[in-house]
Amino acid sequence: MFRKVIPVVFALSAIASVSASAAQPHEPVDHRFCFTCHGTDGVGSEGIQAPRLAGMESWYLKRQLELFKAGGRGVHPMDIEGMEMQPMAAILTEEQIDDVVAWAGSWEYVPAAPTISGGNVERGKQLFQACVMCHGDQAQGNQAMNAPALQGQNDWYLVTQLKNFKAGYRGNNPLDTYGAPMRAMTAGLADEQAIVDVVTYINTLGR
Ligand code: HEC
Ligand code: HEC
Repeated sequence: MFRKVIPVVFALSAIASVSASAAQPHEPVDHRFCFTCHGTDGVGSEGIQAPRLAGMESWYLKRQLELFKAGGRGVHPMDIEGMEMQPMAAILTEEQIDDVVAWAGSWEYVPAAPTISGGNVERGKQLFQACVMCHGDQAQGNQAMNAPALQGQNDWYLVTQLKNFKAGYRGNNPLDTYGAPMRAMTAGLADEQAIVDVVTYINTLGR
C-alpha cells in the first residue's frame, strides 16, 4: 500500500512546485507533468507502476485519457494503479489532451526490457493465438479492431491489466465500451500462471 501512495504525493508535490515556480500566482498548472510518474521521456516506471507511453498509438493514448477523464477507467476501488491515473486525466481539458497526445508523438519509442520470470513461452504462444485476431500476430496492434499494440510494453503493466480485466476492475464500467471485450478474452486465461505465460510470449515479439 505504501508504494502505491507515494506516486500521488510525489506528483502532487511536483505539480505544486510547478505552480510555486510560476511567475504569476494563479498561473495554471503545466499540464505536461506526465514524466513525473511515467519515467524520463515516457519510458515507464515500474516503481510507480506507470507504463511506457513513448511509441503508443495516438488514437489509443487519446482514448484512454478521455476514458480516465470521463470516469470510465480508474474508478474501481480495487484498481489502485488506475485510481492514481484517473485524477491526472481529469484535470486536463480537451485541448490539453490533444496537446499532450501531439507532444507524446515526439518521444522516442524504446521497447521495454523484460522483467518477469517463471513463464512458459510455448504455452504462452498457444494462449496468444486467441489474441491475434485483434492485437495482430506480432502484438503490433490493430486500430480497425480498436486494439492497441502490446509488444514492447512493460510486462508488469500487461500482467496487471490482464488481472484487472479478469477481476472486473477494468472493462466493467458502462462507459468503457472498448475495454468490455477484454473481460471475455481474459476468461480464457485460467489463472495467474496463464497470464504470466502469455505475457512471457508477448515479450518475445517485435524485437
Ligand atoms: C501520479 C502518477 C501519474 C501521473 C502524473 C500520470 N500518470 Fe498516467 N498512469 C499512472 C499509472 C499508475 C498508470 C497505470 C494505470 C493502470 O495500471 O491501469 C497510468 C496509466 C496511463 C495510461 C494508460 C496506458 C495504457 O496502456 O492504457 C495513459 C494513456 C496515461 N497514463 C497517460 C498519462 C499522461 C499523458 C500523463 C500526463 C498528462 C499522465 N499519464 C500522468 C500514473 C500517472
Ligand atoms: C475481440 C478483440 C480482442 C481480443 C481477441 C483480445 N483483445 Fe486485448 N484489447 C482489445 C481492445 C479493443 C483493447 C483496448 C481496450 C480499451 O481501449 O480500453 C484491448 C486491450 C488489451 C490490453 C490493455 C492494453 C493497455 O495498454 O492497457 C491488454 C493487456 C490486452 N488487451 C491483452 C490481450 C490478450 C493477452 C489477449 C488474448 C488472450 C487479448 N487481449 C485479446 C481487444 C481484444
